[in-house]
Amino acid sequence: MTAQTMTAPEPPLAMLVELTHRCPLRCPYCSNPLELERRGQELDTAAWRDVLDQAAALGVLQVHFSGGEPTARPDLEDLVEHAAGLGLYTNLITAGVLLDEARVGRLSAAGLDHVQLSIQDSDPAESDRIAGYQGGYRRKIAVAGWIRAAGLPLTLNAPVHRHNIERLEAIIALAVELGAERIEVAHVQYYGWGLKNRAALIPTRAQLERATEVVEAAIERLKGVLVFDYVVPDYYAHRPKACMGGWGRQFLNVTPSGKVLPCHAAETIPGLAFERVTERGLAEIWAHSPAFERFRGTDWMPEPCASCERREIDWGGCRCQALAILGDAALTDPACGLSPHHDALVALAEAESDREPPAFQYRRMTRPEPVEA
Ligand code: SF4
Ligand code: FES
Repeated sequence: MTAQTMTAPEPPLAMLVELTHRCPLRCPYCSNPLELERRGQELDTAAWRDVLDQAAALGVLQVHFSGGEPTARPDLEDLVEHAAGLGLYTNLITAGVLLDEARVGRLSAAGLDHVQLSIQDSDPAESDRIAGYQGGYRRKIAVAGWIRAAGLPLTLNAPVHRHNIERLEAIIALAVELGAERIEVAHVQYYGWGLKNRAALIPTRAQLERATEVVEAAIERLKGVLVFDYVVPDYYAHRPKACMGGWGRQFLNVTPSGKVLPCHAAETIPGLAFERVTERGLAEIWAHSPAFERFRGTDWMPEPCASCERREIDWGGCRCQALAILGDAALTDPACGLSPHHDALVALAEAESDREPPAFQYRRMTRPEPVEA
């Protein structure tokens, strides 16, 4: 064992809690795995409370309640209240369509700190088509109003792809109109359902460049009004992002059944076994699980990462992307211009985005799962 792996890691900054994989929407870029966990596998309220206790003890500062659709769980208020009582910063990542005004009020009273509401498009019909859910857009607009009326800070999450990229100006204007303080303009990342639908979603390089101009101009124009987070698509990048801030460094993800993952797509990597928080303590998993150890730090890196000056900046990029594109999670992310496979990735992106997009393959359970309204 090297000196680096013997040192206990710093505690994670944030924990993404996937309360459920159930969701009334069917977005074709959902980052959930293709094999969705079912309702009968979900942790119960007491088990989630215990996860939150363990997270606070470990030193986690932020909890992101996510899914699927976290509001499909009737115990969300209870869990928010529990997390807030532990001094954790609580964020709700929601599609919004199951919320009503009273529930937004209850979540606020329970101590919720922040809401991220997804929007699929500024055009109502297109928004509903992309989400695969009729009436969703209208509901989301109402929900945004209730969130603001409850005094909760609002971020609009706007995934961008070739079906809505031409309306990016209008999507930004909608964020201002809805009173959002922040917008996340995130080009779709190709994991989970997004990878399955890549050919339908990937923009052309010209569309990306135009979108970047739109965002840069809006950042200037809307200073003091709207804060921007801009996530560019890796396939056209020169250097990769530090996925999750580096494997096993800042972030952990707990699935509905309690599996603890370094990132939401980690289960796609063959040969890694992920432990359940019901079977081993969160702190133990974080510090010692072989799956977390596998790509933590820099010891695992091949060239060109091993001798690269950016190796502790981007941590070699994304393991799941290396697997998805190259079939080997232990290679340099091909989004990096220094990877010998980068040119092939760019060629793939250009070829796919040049063709007519195929129909969406909508996210689905193999049989429908009920969600509480
Ligand atoms: Fe990052 Fe590796 Fe590329 Fe260097 S070679 S920039 S460490 S991905
Ligand atoms: Fe798994 Fe990037 S999504 S490491």
